[in-house]
Amino acid sequence: MKQLIIATHNEGKLREIRALLEQEPVQVLSLKDIGWQQEIEETGSTFKENALIKARRIFKATGQAVLADDSGLEVRAMGGGPGVYSARYMGEDVSYDIKNQAILSLLERVTEKERAADYRCVIAFVRPGRGGRALAKTAEGRVDGRIAYEAAGEGGFGYDPIFFLPERACTMAQLSEEDKNAISHRGAALRAILPHVKEWLNKA
Ligand code: IMP
Repeated sequence: MKQLIIATHNEGKLREIRALLEQEPVQVLSLKDIGWQQEIEETGSTFKENALIKARRIFKATGQAVLADDSGLEVRAMGGGPGVYSARYMGEDVSYDIKNQAILSLLERVTEKERAADYRCVIAFVRPGRGGRALAKTAEGRVDGRIAYEAAGEGGFGYDPIFFLPERACTMAQLSEEDKNAISHRGAALRAILPHVKEWLNKA
């Protein structure tokens, strides 16, 4: 069976990606599985650049097919931030309870329109092509919502307790894992990259 490395240390993301690849004849490996310990600096200024940086770097080191994602929260009142800095917002080691409370405070007096937010995700798929050269594809997914007035829900991870979905009248953290996967930016990006992964899996 072919092996596919998922370039993340984030357990939440790993679970979502594993669930979406469950039906495919592929052995999914995490960075932990391959013993990857190095930090990969996300020096890009877009989600796409960062996803490609991560996937190419791991492909170069292992020669194996890799899926890497870069994603983040964009809030209108924050000029589209924290965006590519979502994980680093206020510091990488600061808890999401604190980050979420800080965003709620920041938005205390802004209009409903300014509370508009989205999650975006770009997934890069890099695999060996002819002569072992890297072949790269990318796909993007997005989900629109707004920042809630207070945090709610225990599911998901990161900013999910403050990401309100008007159509569902609840936050992302109040959805079941299955429901989140069905609508999430990562789910959409993964479904969009899946034809490329399947094409590779079907190759001799
Ligand atoms: P990345 O690992 O550089 O892609 O960082 C993405 C960051 O964006 C995460 O650490 C979270 O802060 C945020 N983020 C991305 N997707 C989600 C999600 O589905 N729920 C909550 N936060 C997310």
